[in-house]
Amino acid sequence: MRPYPPEPFRIKTVESIRQISREERESLLKAAGYNIFGLRSEDIYIDLLTDSGTGAMSDRQWAALMQADEAYAGARSYYKLAEAIGNIFGHKFFVPTHQGRAAEHILSTLLIKPGNAIPSNTHFDTTEANIRARDGKPVNLAIDEAADPTNHHPFKGNLDAEKLEVFIQEVGVEKIPLGMITITNNAIGGQPVSLENMRQVSEIYRYHGIPFFIDACRYAENAYFIKQRESGYENKTILEIAQECFALSDGATMSGKKDAMVNIGGFLTMNNEDLHQQACNELVLREGFPTYGGLAGRDLEAMAVGLWEGLDEAYLSYRVGQVGYLAQGLLEAGIPIVEPPGGHAVYIDAQRFLPHIQRDEFPGQALSVELYVEGGIRGVELGSVSFAYTDPETGEKHYPLMELVRLAIPRRMYTQAHMDFVIETLARIAERRESIRGYRIAYAPRLLRHFTAKFEPL
Ligand code: F0G
Repeated sequence: MRPYPPEPFRIKTVESIRQISREERESLLKAAGYNIFGLRSEDIYIDLLTDSGTGAMSDRQWAALMQADEAYAGARSYYKLAEAIGNIFGHKFFVPTHQGRAAEHILSTLLIKPGNAIPSNTHFDTTEANIRARDGKPVNLAIDEAADPTNHHPFKGNLDAEKLEVFIQEVGVEKIPLGMITITNNAIGGQPVSLENMRQVSEIYRYHGIPFFIDACRYAENAYFIKQRESGYENKTILEIAQECFALSDGATMSGKKDAMVNIGGFLTMNNEDLHQQACNELVLREGFPTYGGLAGRDLEAMAVGLWEGLDEAYLSYRVGQVGYLAQGLLEAGIPIVEPPGGHAVYIDAQRFLPHIQRDEFPGQALSVELYVEGGIRGVELGSVSFAYTDPETGEKHYPLMELVRLAIPRRMYTQAHMDFVIETLARIAERRESIRGYRIAYAPRLLRHFTAKFEPL
């Protein structure tokens, strides 16, 4: 029997979900141009599209909402959030934003000029798009092990320090206005980054005078993996580990919709006072006054409470355990996944699952369609639909490392029986996998095409 970690909470409020018929699912999917982003959530049984903003808030968070201060300037709720961020992140300044990509947008606007290049282990798609929107170049320097879904490296999210040195020599420091690292590394499987690696990367950035920003969305899950896997950290608290990570950096972009356990919210932190001043100016222009960013006072309250709940070790142990349970079940059913499983999601290796579908015919897209048709489950393609692009200068086509379908687990939402249902559904799809065919793109916008693209089955 696979071990399932009993939930460290009990359920106080429920939300009904229902399963519509297979015929209905087929016709709705066709109407949505075979893009699962085009479906109504009501027509989905188990929604594993994302763990972002989809989790359940706690009774304490809901209670905090009622105590919020909605003042335009200097609200009590802002200071409560400032205290939590100051404590955990430790950077001198921050601005609240409506979500992570707004923080990325402000940072990109302030630092990136056309022709600049921004290194990371792997940028997430919104970060990539924000860099490209400034005519900058996002550069991914993950360790080679990241490209092998069967490699059990404990910190597969790491940035390759040697590649980073070579990259800086080749491109030149003057063209690199900032360097990043994403924890955990979402795009390649929710894989953790070790503190040793962050220390190395930080030293390189510091040596060259390059400001170092952490994409911190899932920093608490990352800290939990460090505690489990990195020697010397077994007896530290998750908070201490997180603080040690952030102390290596000059700032962070944060989507509160992940490890801050809220449905909306984010922030940008930094040590540089001048940058903070400029960020406030940008904020006023687009998001709102510096003490609320793009949020209501109640959102700031919920995030202040959520930041602490996200660091709770009993919660993190259940969270990572639930993801591990789903991963183990899929492996037992013969479904190839990225191993070891990450912190927030299981990533199915669609290329190995559907070897007869070429990359240009989108095996991940084909599998995400089948998941919905077979079980009313929504997962998301993280492969060539999301990440392949043609270099505007050379005309050369670039592919991502892998063709994946991500089953992201919303926080504190689904139970063991839901996970079993997902495993059974995929086992049924596996039985008829040879008959599944690829797709062609009928329409796509220039940036972030996966959200609104339309497809036709081949
Ligand atoms: N960075 C990472 C690593 C992310 O995973 C995300 C969002 C963002 C930045 C942007 O944050 O959505 O608040 O603007 N990831 C979601 C996902 C959308 O499904 O993985 P946001």
